[in-house]
Amino acid sequence: MLAKKTVILGITGSIAAYKATDIASKLVQDGAEVRVVMTRSAARFIMPLTLNSITGRPVESSMWNMSSEFSIGHVTLAEVADVVVIAPATANIIAKLATGVADDMLTCTVLATMAPIILAPAMNDNMFLNPITQKNLAKLKARGFITVGPGYGRLASGKIGTGRLAEVDKILDAIKQVMGQKSDLNGRHIVVTAGGTHEPIDPVRYISNRSSGKMGYAIAEAARYRGAQVSLITTTILAEPAGIDITQVETALEMKTVVAQVVKDADALIMAAAVADYRPKSFAKAKIKKESSSLTLELIRTPDILTEVKGNFIRVGFAAETEDLLANAQKKLKEKQLDLIVANNITDKESGFGVNTNKVIMISRNGRVKDLPLLTKREVADKVLDRVVGLLNKRS
Ligand code: C5P
Repeated sequence: MLAKKTVILGITGSIAAYKATDIASKLVQDGAEVRVVMTRSAARFIMPLTLNSITGRPVESSMWNMSSEFSIGHVTLAEVADVVVIAPATANIIAKLATGVADDMLTCTVLATMAPIILAPAMNDNMFLNPITQKNLAKLKARGFITVGPGYGRLASGKIGTGRLAEVDKILDAIKQVMGQKSDLNGRHIVVTAGGTHEPIDPVRYISNRSSGKMGYAIAEAARYRGAQVSLITTTILAEPAGIDITQVETALEMKTVVAQVVKDADALIMAAAVADYRPKSFAKAKIKKESSSLTLELIRTPDILTEVKGNFIRVGFAAETEDLLANAQKKLKEKQLDLIVANNITDKESGFGVNTNKVIMISRNGRVKDLPLLTKREVADKVLDRVVGLLNKRS
């Protein structure tokens, strides 16, 4: 799996740095091209020569070493990387990456790369549990960084706690998992919508629905991992995954305008958003006062984005239903002239709005019906994308 893959192994200044020699050795044995980047503090814990000998490659540590015949530009490694792994990752490097500092070879490489990034934190337990470190890690995870560990056990200080570098095999598994990701959407542009639209009544109130946007985000992230250029048009900002072009919108009309613009050169439009079917006919510029015992709002239809936005792309719709799931979804597939519809029964607690799992039925234009078991939204996303890939390949 790792043959011909370039793994950038970043090592930072933790006592666990010696374990990076084992990671490097196993990666080399698995056929990977391993390029080690060490921080100055890491070089105080282990000898660059050790890693040099294991990998058969020069170890990068300085951006200013122009005299070496091996010297490389400060973003060269970022460009050749298939994956970047930082093991061990100290609280310091995590903080630097979370704020975008680029003051050495490793931080420059991470900031400039488009490859997936894996962090294996290792530090004192109080440093790990410190809310600042936790916040930095959460920020990085939201940007698409993958973390492995830390584990619980004996720390360098002799204390028992959480902060140990994850087991080497676990780190290798994470690398292999990331490398095993399909790249079947390379060169494709996928447009995904997410969240429920807000249809304003007055400056204070709006009509909306319970959609969280999680399904759309899962599709956008999965498509990105499979190599696609992804445009996510969403009403909710759940995270800012790395490499995804996000546009925030509020209403169905705004979503339609952005989708129509972005989808022009797209290969597929996946409408996971719960677009309001109706919106208030008029918008009250001032807050509506509660003067009478009842209030009637006149609602008018919103445009159907899937039907109205024209172009030569694969169209995937979602159908959230409370009854007659299959029949209603089949009707929508036909009416909206979709290539695929993903139907889910939102009365099920583990499926649909707000939760991380979903149970869906996929129905294709040719009538093929696939009833999937309860899966995580990320797994559902990959199943949907498998179908999109199949449809795109059939076309070309
Ligand atoms: O008709 P219904 O709203 O149930 O259809 C759901 C599918 O149609 C979803 O994929 C949704 O994103 C899309 N839709 C749309 N424009 C609307 C309403 C729904 O594209 N105005």
